[in-house]
Amino acid sequence: MSEAAILQVRDLCASYDRSQVLFGISVTAPRRGAVAVLGRNGAGKTTLLKTIVGEVAAGGGHIVFDGYRATRMPTERRVRLGVGYVPQEQGVFGRLSVRENLEVGAAAAGDRKAIDSVLSIFPKLGQRLGQPAATLSGGERKMLAIGRALLSRPKLLLLDEPTEGVWIGVIEEIAERLRALVKEMAIVLVEQHLELALSVAEYAYVLDRGRVALEGPAASIRDDPRLLQYLAP
Ligand SMILES: Nc1ncnc2c1ncn2[C@@H]1O[C@H](COP(=O)(O)OP(=O)(O)OP(=O)(O)O)[C@@H](O)[C@H]1O
Ligand SMILES: [Mg+2]
Repeated sequence: MSEAAILQVRDLCASYDRSQVLFGISVTAPRRGAVAVLGRNGAGKTTLLKTIVGEVAAGGGHIVFDGYRATRMPTERRVRLGVGYVPQEQGVFGRLSVRENLEVGAAAAGDRKAIDSVLSIFPKLGQRLGQPAATLSGGERKMLAIGRALLSRPKLLLLDEPTEGVWIGVIEEIAERLRALVKEMAIVLVEQHLELALSVAEYAYVLDRGRVALEGPAASIRDDPRLLQYLAP
């Protein structure tokens, strides 16, 4: 495996019961910077992230994370090795306050100082510490979910649609934070917002019905006439 890659996924297959969803996906993420995963609804993007973190079992293929064979590793061990995961839905405890959400995450990570660093990345959360997470705006809730994932200081962050349901004015704010984060870590970014994805990631994979239909540097993917065909509903 190349030294530069934190994640190498090869020929990955995955199924729910008997219905196969991923058919031999190969994806590589460098130690720093983001790769985007694009594709229409149901293409298998969320399933790919869940298989990388271990919530869905790989039915074939290999996952190598930071030099470790992770294909059959329990999720908890992958997280301990440095995989952070922000799911498409939830990612926060709605009844707990912002402060409590961060404290629970920091306690799990055994690092209380990490809260300060999360608040410096997302200062808005600092103004809402006492508020129940369920009452945050969509954008604030996404920031809290990302912040919680950062508490364990992951080497690789798997982000599933961080701007879904977020007001347009806050999307650019999230994009800016992601562009700063990728200087220090690797991100696999699943994102419907094409411009945002290609402004954060250097490389993109386009999934179509559980396969990589198209891949390449962000700049060339943006101009590829096949892109719209794979993203059209
Ligand atoms: N728990 C599940 N049980 C059965 N089938 C599932 C399950 N989760 C997802 N699927 C199916 O797997 C396929 C891929 O779903 P997935 O959530 O990975 O797509 P996605 O690309 O993330 O879509 P979206 O853009 O809508 O989030 C879909 O056909 C979906 O219906
Ligand atoms: Mg999804």
